[in-house]
Amino acid sequence: MQETKKGLEGIVALDTSISFIDGMQGILKYRGIDIEHLAEMSYETISYLLINGILPGEQELAAYSNRLKSERRINGEMIDIMRVCNYGTEALDSLRTAISCTAHMDHENDNNSLDANKNKAVRLIAKLPTMIAALYRCKSGDFPFQPDETLSHGANFLYMLRGEAPSAIEAEAIEKDFILSAEHELNPSTFALRIAASTLADVYSAIITGLCTLKGPLHGGARRGVMEMLDEVAVPENANNYVLYKLSRKEKIMGFGHRVYRTYDPRSRIFKDMAKRVAKENGDPTWYEVAESLEHVMYREFLDVRGRPIYPNVDFYSAVIYKYLRIPPELATSVFAIGRVSGWTAHCFEQYADNRVIRPRAHYI
Ligand code: COA
Repeated sequence: MQETKKGLEGIVALDTSISFIDGMQGILKYRGIDIEHLAEMSYETISYLLINGILPGEQELAAYSNRLKSERRINGEMIDIMRVCNYGTEALDSLRTAISCTAHMDHENDNNSLDANKNKAVRLIAKLPTMIAALYRCKSGDFPFQPDETLSHGANFLYMLRGEAPSAIEAEAIEKDFILSAEHELNPSTFALRIAASTLADVYSAIITGLCTLKGPLHGGARRGVMEMLDEVAVPENANNYVLYKLSRKEKIMGFGHRVYRTYDPRSRIFKDMAKRVAKENGDPTWYEVAESLEHVMYREFLDVRGRPIYPNVDFYSAVIYKYLRIPPELATSVFAIGRVSGWTAHCFEQYADNRVIRPRAHYI
């Protein structure tokens, strides 16, 4: 039997046409298109691209956008369920229940045809922001706000969270967050989801598998960790001691490092620029400055001690943006899922289309 590769590092597990990463050069493409280009589009466009494999024309986009908007609402029964399964410290715990309930209420749940599965994808993509905002509102003892069909995917989410439409730059920031979080090849949650799909489990079951895997602090949960770290460090002058203390205890600094990238993550570059702009509009650059200081110290420490720098990953500057957008930390991982659900559903379809059950071997010791 072959030698065990801990963490499956470097193992190529399957073929995909959904996204491409060059970890040495810092390149990421969805369906062959560079992320820098995609970041300037709308989330609805990217979602269509991921699910259908091609960019939509004007008419296709208008029709897709209308479908998503018409599916944004959640019913009273769902809101009742949300009140019952009120989350403690992590909204994702309730979100997975909400998605499970959506499956129960979906008349196509047992239909595994591509058409039915695309309908499920639309429902999930449209309803996730409404569910998360509603969970937050219910937790605070308030009534959820109804979705506003005049607003974009991102702006509508912030509106439902706060009850007021975001500024133009805030809307741009959250839209970019959803786009840049939408897809990333065989990251842990997507791989877990593909294993579930390879057993021919239904779309909702596969999505819940992905969602549960996203929760961990070494994956999507890192975003929340970064938000908490920004509060802990508080001012840029503390960054040096904070990093040295954590590293001396062999603790991980959230939002740094990546299994695949050996250079700057292209998503982090876009997030960093966006975070700087949001900070400027806010008028208080402290969180951005704390983040920059942490980045400098980490770069220096890793270069000095290990001869190789470490870079911020997708969760680092996105967390800075969440701070400025006033997204509560307990929602951060769920907000990541709003973007990722398009990539997840695309991977479900790709797995179903050319399936073989994913079943590796273990080395017995
Ligand atoms: N803080 C401190 N040290 C880190 C680090 C971080 N964020 N990321 C990697 N390292 C260190 C590891 O401890 C390891 O040190 P060692 O050789 O002395 O054991 C070395 O760098 C190599 O990292 P490793 O853990 O083997 O990388 P990996 O490919 O297994 O893991 C991550 C990648 C992303 C899980 C890892 O970098 C990490 O835990 N980052 C923090 C959590 C995070 O931001 N996750 C989101 C990922 S997008």
